[in-house]
Amino acid sequence: MKEQLQAIANEALAKLEHVEDMKSLEEIRILFLGKKGKLTSILKGMGSLSAEERPVVGQMVNDVRKQLEEKIQNTRSELIRKEQEKNIAQEAIDVTMPGTILRTGKKHPLTQVLDEIKEVFIGMGYEIAEGPEVELDYYNFEALNIPKNHPARDTQDSFYINENVVLRSQTSPVQIRVMEKQKPPIKIICPGRVYRSDPVDATHSPIFHQVEGLVVDKGVTMGDLIGTLQVFAKNLFGEETDIRLRPHHFQFTEPSAEVDVSCWTCGGKGCRVCKNEGWIEILGAGMVHPKVLETCGIDPKVYSGFAFGLGVERTAMGRFNIDDMRLLYENDIRFLKQF
Ligand code: DAH
Repeated sequence: MKEQLQAIANEALAKLEHVEDMKSLEEIRILFLGKKGKLTSILKGMGSLSAEERPVVGQMVNDVRKQLEEKIQNTRSELIRKEQEKNIAQEAIDVTMPGTILRTGKKHPLTQVLDEIKEVFIGMGYEIAEGPEVELDYYNFEALNIPKNHPARDTQDSFYINENVVLRSQTSPVQIRVMEKQKPPIKIICPGRVYRSDPVDATHSPIFHQVEGLVVDKGVTMGDLIGTLQVFAKNLFGEETDIRLRPHHFQFTEPSAEVDVSCWTCGGKGCRVCKNEGWIEILGAGMVHPKVLETCGIDPKVYSGFAFGLGVERTAMGRFNIDDMRLLYENDIRFLKQF
């Protein structure tokens, strides 16, 4: 029985030398130490031994059991260590591997044009001003010389929050906000979103963008306005671009003009884009009305100024030859990718 025990121990130890994974380790454990294992069956056979032999063999079985348990435990630790090493090796980062290319997006055409407009005016020494989109009726209309019930409000049917609060229908209220706070010289542009209760079509949207401009100082003239707008038009639409002023009426400027640029498609000959006119209207402008200056506490006998309000959508449509404003808002990547 001694030999048998020794043989079992040797067999087990030999097998344990070659285990490669936890599963076979567990199989070996069951084979030798399990309830129906080889060692247990020796214990079961001890009934046939003499009283003297029994404790001796019992002791030997225990020694072997202990030896095997230790060996199994060590093998288990060794397997765990190897597994961890393997994981660490697998997870190591190879810094020489080629990277994944992150696809960067690009600016929306409206943002691109806004940036270009800002750059042109900043280049001429303008600062950027801002105002709220939810505006007081006072700033959006009244202080701009458009009293309640004045017909000039008809063309700017805005969204009223209550009688005195509207979504601004133009960026012109920022003129008032700036002049209330700052004394001349003033030279600002205000880019921003404006709202009008207009149904959506190829040239209208209830939300669109404007850039307001305001210059107030001593001796500012219409000539300064025209020169400024020429620089703007040439920078955005090309050196050969011309501008044309047509007399118009705005409540907050006097004199007032609507300003056209020569058609970016045909250069003025007349085509489908300019509806055969050769010119395309892009902004309103004029000399700041003395009443408006007075409202803001600026003496119109000492100071004068010009202002303009420019449609960003129109400018973008011209700049990129887009014929339907709705395309700018649909966020179709295939369309936007082109610019
Ligand atoms: N706010 C006007 C509009 O939305 C545009 C405009 C006209 C702005 C003349 C001006 C200006 O500053 O002087 O129709």
